[in-house]
Amino acid sequence: MSQTEGNRQFLAEAIAGLQSARPSIPCKYLYDAHGSALFEAICRSQDYYVTRADLALHERHLPEISDRIGPQAHIIEFGSGSGIKTRRLLESLDKPRAYTPIEISAAALEASVKDLRRDLSHVEIQPLQADYTEDIPDHHFHLDPPPRRRVVYFPGSTIGNFDQNEAIAFLRRMGNIIGNTGAILIGVDLLKPEPILLRAYDDREGITAQFNLNLLRRMERELGVEVDINAFRHEARFNRELSRIEMHLVATRATRIGIGAHQSDFAAGDSIHTESSYKYTVAGFREIAARAGLESLQVWTDPDELFSMHWLEKSGNGES
Ligand code: AVJ
Repeated sequence: MSQTEGNRQFLAEAIAGLQSARPSIPCKYLYDAHGSALFEAICRSQDYYVTRADLALHERHLPEISDRIGPQAHIIEFGSGSGIKTRRLLESLDKPRAYTPIEISAAALEASVKDLRRDLSHVEIQPLQADYTEDIPDHHFHLDPPPRRRVVYFPGSTIGNFDQNEAIAFLRRMGNIIGNTGAILIGVDLLKPEPILLRAYDDREGITAQFNLNLLRRMERELGVEVDINAFRHEARFNRELSRIEMHLVATRATRIGIGAHQSDFAAGDSIHTESSYKYTVAGFREIAARAGLESLQVWTDPDELFSMHWLEKSGNGES
């Protein structure tokens, strides 16, 4: 996608989002280069438990997870596998057949692949630049000779950004990729007491606040939006009914956002919803998976039971 095409879409979605009854901006726009760097900083912060718990889970269960995957597997990761988790997983596997990271950002893909190629010379690495939220033609995954099975790997709980129907559709698409013999290894953040959740999405160092406010800076810079950034503050809310954390940009006084001919007026307290992060119980996620034609055959958690990892196969594959 060209720069202007990307901007045109951002502009259209920003206008539509701001003009709706409950103003919102799609969360994907939080992750420009600066936003992605801020997200990495969030992952290192004390208050954001998610990354640490995901790592602790891998630390604790990697031998078992690798056993479950078995030899000659084709690991297909949704997102760039620059992290330590991917490396550890690939290192612990018995004769991995190949590894395909899927990533929309060419730069991020390039960076992750460079390090992995250097450190894991025994693994065939076949990066794929694509938007994993869209359909990917199957030929991109073909290997000769074929792997014993495909395993879609999606750690980090990014599935939490999707609402229920989106999550089901997304899981279905993963199901199409793995066929009847494959599996999905997916990280899912667990529901936990509200104060812990709120702290994690409003860290005391203020990094999440910067991450959220960066969306307005980006709109100002890239779209020429007229906005008084000082009139907004970051807020994390827990929506109990929908079991999700919501990030909002809340107006601290009456203010106006202008995008060309379009204007959106905010009274003090009005907000723009910028991201959701759904929190699941183990049973709740099993249910979502079932509705996508998948069966959760094993669930691992970290020692503090903050985070979970499900092993999903096509329904009917189960040993039960
Ligand atoms: C990247 C979706 C996993 O929801 O925990 C973290 C994003 N936003 N802090 C999450 C996020 C604010 C993160 N995910």
